[in-house]
Amino acid sequence: MRVLFATSEAHPLIKTGGLADVCGSLPPALKRLRNDVRMILPAYPQCLANAGKLKSVARFQVAGFDQDIELLEGQLPGTRVPLYLVDSPLHFQRAGDPYRASDGRDWQDNHLRYALFCRVIVQLALNRLDLDWAPEVLHCNDWQTGLAPAFLSQHSPRPASLFTVHNLAYQGLFAPHAADELILPPEFWRMDALEFHGQISFIKGGLAFADRINTVSPTYAREIQTTQFGHGLDGLLHARSAHLSGILNGVDYRQWDPVKDKHLPARYSTDDLSGKAQCKAALQATFGLTPDAEKPLLVHVGRMVAQKGVDLILGACEPLLAKKSIQLVILGSGEKALETQARGMAARHAEAMGLKIGYDEALAHQIEAGGDLFLMPSRFEPCGLNQIYSLRYGTPPLVRHTGGLADTVTDTSSETLAAGKATGFVFDAASDKALLNTIQGALKVYADTATWQQLMLTGMKQCFDWELSARTYHDLYKECTKA
Ligand code: ADP
Ligand code: GLC
Repeated sequence: MRVLFATSEAHPLIKTGGLADVCGSLPPALKRLRNDVRMILPAYPQCLANAGKLKSVARFQVAGFDQDIELLEGQLPGTRVPLYLVDSPLHFQRAGDPYRASDGRDWQDNHLRYALFCRVIVQLALNRLDLDWAPEVLHCNDWQTGLAPAFLSQHSPRPASLFTVHNLAYQGLFAPHAADELILPPEFWRMDALEFHGQISFIKGGLAFADRINTVSPTYAREIQTTQFGHGLDGLLHARSAHLSGILNGVDYRQWDPVKDKHLPARYSTDDLSGKAQCKAALQATFGLTPDAEKPLLVHVGRMVAQKGVDLILGACEPLLAKKSIQLVILGSGEKALETQARGMAARHAEAMGLKIGYDEALAHQIEAGGDLFLMPSRFEPCGLNQIYSLRYGTPPLVRHTGGLADTVTDTSSETLAAGKATGFVFDAASDKALLNTIQGALKVYADTATWQQLMLTGMKQCFDWELSARTYHDLYKECTKA
């Protein structure tokens, strides 16, 4: 199958979150299944720096924009997946985050930047750039690519389209005047098209116009059809339920496996866990925590936003830190109020709590390996990758029962332990109290070394590689083309 895979992020080119992990590892997995998959991303400075050798293959303009755009061709590093970068320096050559200026505010012209990206995606999908390659399926990911299925729907013949929702909370909403700047056809300005409560919604381009929609776990696919998780789009998603499915993300064990992780001070496996103790000692040293092999070390890595429930972690851990019964390490950045709250707490408990505000890929790996218990009390979680990584690193995850967390972690109970199925801890209510109760339950299990080790080993043996999920995507592509 010939597939054009469009995304705003892919590891190791550019990454702000799990979208990059998935888009850096799913296309190579599809390629291993003999699909002719090619990727397209904006030429952010990080992409240009990390992509290796690139050559210019087309120079052109698209509707609504005066600038010349160049299409660069190379390969996703470390793979044989062809890569196209959309080089429009005015739009993509900017320092820092793809979406925000250094003051944390969204770039004012994001609607133009991603409309241009989508126009180019469609030109390529329709084989109008003289590249002599026409995909059978256009696979778009998240709001940044949302307009592409909408633009594509206006052409015939055209390739089929699939839109993957990695996170419904990020919708690409813009004021109505943006629609004028984008010279969108008037029929897009409708409730069953791009209009959303008086604004223009890029994600609706994907949700309303793609032939098929999927999201990144079966549970989240059901949840987003409810008012609680639908972010106002549950009606549309419910109406499209016959064309909506959930495919659990895979992970790339070439990057995330303690047996060969180059970021770790020591490596370990199910046969020999001794390296994990070294990783714990090193992590305690990194953060200036009291060296202590026995003290439970709770850890968290994630974007500091309401979704991830870092406020719940701070609330639940405060009394445990005060009683000196745990150590805590957090890595993340995001909303200033949450960062400030975390900083205050780390200052109060300097010998027991380590905090790094920022983005640090190597440290994320070291935390996965050095921790005893990985906390992920997300309020919602489309899939979540860190809990899957922590399973492999022998750091049982403690998660809320939602989205992909519910689909990947098996709660510890006498029954699941007896059946050899327990891999972590799962709780329901999004409150400090419920989280604290569950942590206390987990600490009791931690005190029982043999049971804890069973839990670690069961988790380490779980396999969430891309094999199965990539096959499911392949089947879905076939379904799209029959639509
Ligand atoms: P999301 O995509 O919602 O952020 P996921 O669990 O799917 O959540 O993926 C998060 C990815 O981003 C993981 O690879 C995680 O290690 C990484 N990550 C998040 N925050 C940081 C950070 N501050 N430093 C390094 N890596 C981070
Ligand atoms: C999003 C979600 C996360 C998911 C990731 C990759 O950022 O928040 O749950 O794992 O995308 O699909």
